[in-house]
Amino acid sequence: MKLRTNVLRTVAVMAMAASCAIPGLAHAADAAPAPAAGPAAGNVQAARDKISMCIGCHGIPGYKASFPELYHVPMIAGQNAKYIEAALNEYKSGARSHPTMDAVAASLSDQDIADLAAYYANLK
Ligand code: HEC
Repeated sequence: MKLRTNVLRTVAVMAMAASCAIPGLAHAADAAPAPAAGPAAGNVQAARDKISMCIGCHGIPGYKASFPELYHVPMIAGQNAKYIEAALNEYKSGARSHPTMDAVAASLSDQDIADLAAYYANLK
């Protein structure tokens, strides 16, 4: 009887876990373990509304291509999230300077930066 209860409990837990899975996030979760709870945890889904600001220069989502014949734009897809976050904060604070990136970063909140960093870090 005790064994049977345990089996039922296991099935119930598995069902709960499955119902919580969000298809789009499953891939991201594979690539990077969930970030530890802290300020401004990046949300890959939320970033999908924000990347329209970036794709013109940093390539089409899913593609690594940018436009080297116009000017060099660094590839940020697959880049480390902490690195992307640091770079955007540096443009925002003025520690790093580039005419277009200064303007782009200035318009981003800390949450935007965290979301975009998570999105691009998971983009292969
Ligand atoms: C008008 C074109 C343009 C747009 C729009 C743009 N970028 Fe950039 N980005 C650049 C260029 C050019 C550089 C290289 C600047 C430099 O040399 O410092 C750059 C650099 C960066 C870097 C630093 C990369 C590295 O390897 O150091 C990050 C991160 C970045 N961009 C993220 C973004 C994000 C996120 C967005 C959208 C919110 C965005 N960019 C929008 C042109 C653009």
